[in-house]
Amino acid sequence: MKVLIATEKPFAAVAVDGMRKVIEDAGAELILLEKYTAKADLLAAVADVDALIIRSDKVDAEVLDAAKNLKIVVRAGAGYDNIDLAAATAHGVSAQNTPGQNSNAVAELVFGLAVMMCRNMYNGTSGTELKGKTLGIQAFGQVGRNVARIGRGFDMSISALDPYCPDAAMEEAAVKPVHSVEELYRENRVVSIHIPATPETRGSIGYDLVTSMPKGGLLINTARKEVIDEEGLIRALEARPDLKYAADVAPDRAEEMKEKFGGRVFFTPKKMGAQTSEANINAGIAAARQAIAFLTTGEDRFRVNK
Ligand code: 3PG
Repeated sequence: MKVLIATEKPFAAVAVDGMRKVIEDAGAELILLEKYTAKADLLAAVADVDALIIRSDKVDAEVLDAAKNLKIVVRAGAGYDNIDLAAATAHGVSAQNTPGQNSNAVAELVFGLAVMMCRNMYNGTSGTELKGKTLGIQAFGQVGRNVARIGRGFDMSISALDPYCPDAAMEEAAVKPVHSVEELYRENRVVSIHIPATPETRGSIGYDLVTSMPKGGLLINTARKEVIDEEGLIRALEARPDLKYAADVAPDRAEEMKEKFGGRVFFTPKKMGAQTSEANINAGIAAARQAIAFLTTGEDRFRVNK
């Protein structure tokens, strides 16, 4: 059995060590492809592997065609919009993710970004505090729940929108359920986005929602750049000089936005949300275990291309 870890953005070495142990203890061989820059490298590396572990690396029909022995691809992380699920199904490949394993890391970054933006990028001027402010969480999944937990520590007043989550589960976490995206943006000084990129969510956050935010509003996106209507966001930031936008998933028009809006926008140079040793260990080892379990017993509880 051959297991390929293909990561354009590598895991921490300590996570790779742990993954190696899981894979080799099962009698399988680990092949490591890190920091590759050409798709051809991935196409060559997948040629005879049984399992593939990735992060945000794209697995499309061409990769699946090249992977003649592939039985499983595990996205070590939450969002699996980088895998062509229909093609995986057509190739008889189980596509899995590792839900929850990196969610605390992403949630902590939300507050790193929030404090930095509220303190005017530490430029020496008086900023604002998070205490007592309203925080709206768009999707109350694993990351959203961690954001709520940390937000309570900051003494924020928290609401969340999630049509798939019962009100009672939010109330138990001292979070007020809201039932429309309009209400979420209108009522909250800070809004944190945690929706996946799907055909329904792509481009769904634009001018109207952003300009409906209260005075001094801060929008934080650690989810996916695709959920933003960039044209609408830019117009909103032009129309409302009090608004700010921080993202761990830089927009396509990042340079233009930095030039236009200066310290009112911030983008991490590379997606950093899940880039902690802890998250790499959690997600990487979970992915290795899932790959081995599937190859040895057929266990596919985390399959997303059902
Ligand atoms: C996820 O979906 O789990 C996060 O976006 C992390 O992505 P990454 O593994 O590319 O850092």
